[in-house]
Amino acid sequence: MKTQLARRRLGRTGFDVSEIGFGGWGIGKTMWGRTEDGESSTVLRRALELGVNYFDTAFVYGHGHSERLIGQALRDTGQSAVVATAVPPKNMEWPARASTPIGLAFPPEWIEQCTDRSLAALRVERLDLQQLHVWHDAWLKDRLWPKTLETLGRLKRDGKVRFWAVSVNSDDPDSSLEVLRAGVFDAVQVSLNLFDQRAALRLLPLCAELGIGVVARCPFDEGGLTGSLTRETRFEPSDFRSHYFGGERLGETVRRADALRGLLVGRHAESLAQAALKFCLSFPAVGTVIPGMRRRSHVEENVRAADGRYFDADLLGQLREHAWVRNFYA
Ligand SMILES: NC(=O)c1ccc[n+]([C@@H]2O[C@H](COP(=O)([O-])OP(=O)(O)OC[C@H]3O[C@@H](n4cnc5c(N)ncnc54)[C@H](OP(=O)(O)O)[C@@H]3O)[C@@H](O)[C@H]2O)c1
Repeated sequence: MKTQLARRRLGRTGFDVSEIGFGGWGIGKTMWGRTEDGESSTVLRRALELGVNYFDTAFVYGHGHSERLIGQALRDTGQSAVVATAVPPKNMEWPARASTPIGLAFPPEWIEQCTDRSLAALRVERLDLQQLHVWHDAWLKDRLWPKTLETLGRLKRDGKVRFWAVSVNSDDPDSSLEVLRAGVFDAVQVSLNLFDQRAALRLLPLCAELGIGVVARCPFDEGGLTGSLTRETRFEPSDFRSHYFGGERLGETVRRADALRGLLVGRHAESLAQAALKFCLSFPAVGTVIPGMRRRSHVEENVRAADGRYFDADLLGQLREHAWVRNFYA
């Protein structure tokens, strides 16, 4: 049976996107340990079946692998969806630093070349949303920025890109406020979760004011907010989470997630994972939230979180006390 998953307008792009979107990093088979393509394809088809119509991917997720799987799933099912992909910084540096010249990250010819590669991987003629995979507002003053900006405009005029968006640095959601004010991007993707609530302070209100579409990423803090981690959880070395949850961070994450579970599960959500998604959807500025999904059961559970019953201002106020910015990038 086909379920109608609730949709929201993604700001001035005008796209009507499902409240639960699809995070396509894990299926790219880089940095998330073992991932099976057969299972990824099943997961993509199940997501489409349940009404997911927003897919986030990036060329860097397996050198086009995630893009190819998503493009294939769309062709196989004949369904249409909004697909957002991303140009990686040429220097492969995340997060962007103010001291790095934009010419090392996004020289014009690199943006053009990456756009062509993504068009080929997805097998489409135009990208719905093409993101710069990282950004720092210091680049607005870089002498090469006007050339980069001109390239973004030209790729749009050439019909290769419908809308440009920016993926905000994970270490600082305020590092893109100026470029958003400058009107360069029609949508923004930002980390937002029960731990990292910083985007709600300035970025979300700014986007609401300017009509910029917001895509909330990492709703589970890479797994810390799914309720499935314990102090005994261990990740394979090829899984970046072996480092992300390394040392003291795993125990601290589990302790904090347990406190949130006690507050939210039963009263406000069926599970911590659903509570984590509902938190993101409690902000009207958010158009879609994009949990990473590699299992059919996860898609089914996550889609059920979009039931229109989100958190009110009182509860959001209480949840602010649980905010925690882990010092991952320090
Ligand atoms: N800089 C950037 O632009 C950037 C950075 C990060 C992420 N992103 C985008 O944002 C998306 C989401 O972030 P993310 O994938 O890094 O992290 P996330 O969404 O916070 O966590 C994803 C992981 O949570 C687990 N999970 C999902 N649903 C679950 C459920 N219902 N119950 C239990 N566990 C569940 C899965 O782990 P297992 O598969 O191991 O079970 C999944 O891989 C990415 O896929 C990517 O598209 C962009």
